[in-house]
Parts: sequence; structure tokens; C-alpha cells
Amino acid sequence: MHLFDECAENYDQFRRGSAPYLFSIVSLLKKHNTVSLLDIGCGTGNLFYQLSHHWHGKYIGLDISEKMLRKAQEKQVPAHWICADVRNIPSYNNSFDGITGIYILHLLENIPEVLKECRRVLKRGWIAFVSAPHHFITNHPLNQYFPSFSEIDARRFPKEQDIIEMLLNESFYNVHCEYYILVRDWLSEEYLQKIESKFISTLRLLPQNEFEKGLTKMREELSKGMTNKLIPWESVLIIGFCN
Ligand SMILES: C[S@@+](CC[C@H](N)C(=O)[O-])C[C@H]1O[C@@H](n2cnc3c(N)ncnc32)[C@H](O)[C@@H]1O
Repeated sequence: MHLFDECAENYDQFRRGSAPYLFSIVSLLKKHNTVSLLDIGCGTGNLFYQLSHHWHGKYIGLDISEKMLRKAQEKQVPAHWICADVRNIPSYNNSFDGITGIYILHLLENIPEVLKECRRVLKRGWIAFVSAPHHFITNHPLNQYFPSFSEIDARRFPKEQDIIEMLLNESFYNVHCEYYILVRDWLSEEYLQKIESKFISTLRLLPQNEFEKGLTKMREELSKGMTNKLIPWESVLIIGFCN
């Protein structure tokens, strides 16, 4: 069973928020006349669900978790879903005009190997990854409750500069980053429920006693009325092009 098989049931309840990078992806799709898009690690299909209101091309969602894909299918959007490992994409060379990967890079053991595979199935086109910026991970707002949080993610998430270099090594050009900041509610009852559900995979990697201690601290602060604080939530879109 894959890690995300465990998350599939509740994933959309807690991870279906607005995506600040959505319109940059729409603009890539339109500006480059993208007809076919492969979304690697598509999960429950949230990207296409949002894109389908703005773009009407051929979307292929690929994920290793059958259960995540089953949730994607329930959305009944006009997409093709493939259950496969991104290290071995079951498609011919030069099949797609664009590739997206939203929060998948930190789950891959060998990113260059995956970029090579992406390059193989891409025609002349573009690739775009969403990830967490390293400066955000280092100052992550959850670290004040879970002291290992930043350390765990700093080990998992590749630095933006490293991703750029890996893309350049695979002959992508005009590789660059776009940064986004979303202001979010903090310490609401709703947010605590998300934490309890371990809606971010990092929470599943914390020692259980640290998780419980952090949750108790959050509950105490909430009960003292320290509610409705706002915090910045940051993401980065890393884009590259190929001939
Ligand atoms: C954090 S989720 C993101 C899902 C979706 N992109 C989103 O933004 O909601 C990461 C997804 O990558 C998938 N994944 C992880 N490793 C994979 C691999 N080697 N091949 C294909 N999918 C993979 C997981 O099953 C999971 O659905």
C-alpha cells in the first residue's frame, strides 16, 4: 500500500483550497498553445478540476496511488487517469506539450531520473513544478508547535536552486521561479481539525509524542482565545522549457 492510499479518503476535505499558482499554469497552457498536459502525482485530480474551468485540452493525470486516483475519477471531469510510477511513464516519446507536478518533488528519491523520463515524453513544450520554498520551510509557522517540522521538510524538499540546476542539466531553458504568498487563517477550530487529520504528510513523519504535545499546545492557545491570527503561506512554481 502506498503512503497516499492512507490519505485518499480525507485528502480533499483538507487540501482542496485555492491554488495561488493556478493562473500562471493557465497562462502557460494558453500562451504555449498546450493541447496535451500530463500531471505527474495528480493525486485526487484537484489541478484539473480547477483548470477545466479555464482550459479545454487533453489532460492526463498520473499517480502511483490507486486510491487517490479513485477519488479523482469521482470528480467526473473529462480526463484520462493513469496509475503508474512517474519513473516509468507508460507513454510514447514526445507525447505531451506540457507537464505539471504539484507537490511531488519532495516525494521522489531520484529527481534527475524523473526529469529524464519527463523530458522523454515531452514534445517541444514546458514543465512546471509547485513546491515549498526553502526560506519558508526554515521559518515554517508549524515549527513553533512541532520543533522537528522544519528539519524534516528541509531534508525532504529540494532547494529551488537545486531544482533549477537539475532542469538545466536536462537541457531545459529559461528556467525560473515564481513565488506566491497566501494569507491564511491560523488557530481556528477548523485548522486544528486539519492538523488532527495530519493533512500535511510531514505531520505523519513526526514522532507521535511530539505530534500530541504540539496539538495540545495549539488547543491551549485556541482555548485562551488566541484565534484568527493570519499567517503567510508560501509556495514556488519552478518553470522550464524544452525544444
Ligand atoms: C502531496 S500529493 C499532491 C497531489 C496533487 N498533485 C495535489 O496537488 O493535490 C503527492 C502525490 O504524488 C503521488 N506520488 C508520489 N510518488 C509518486 C511516484 N513515484 N509516481 C507517481 N505518483 C507519485 C502520491 O501518490 C500523491 O498522490
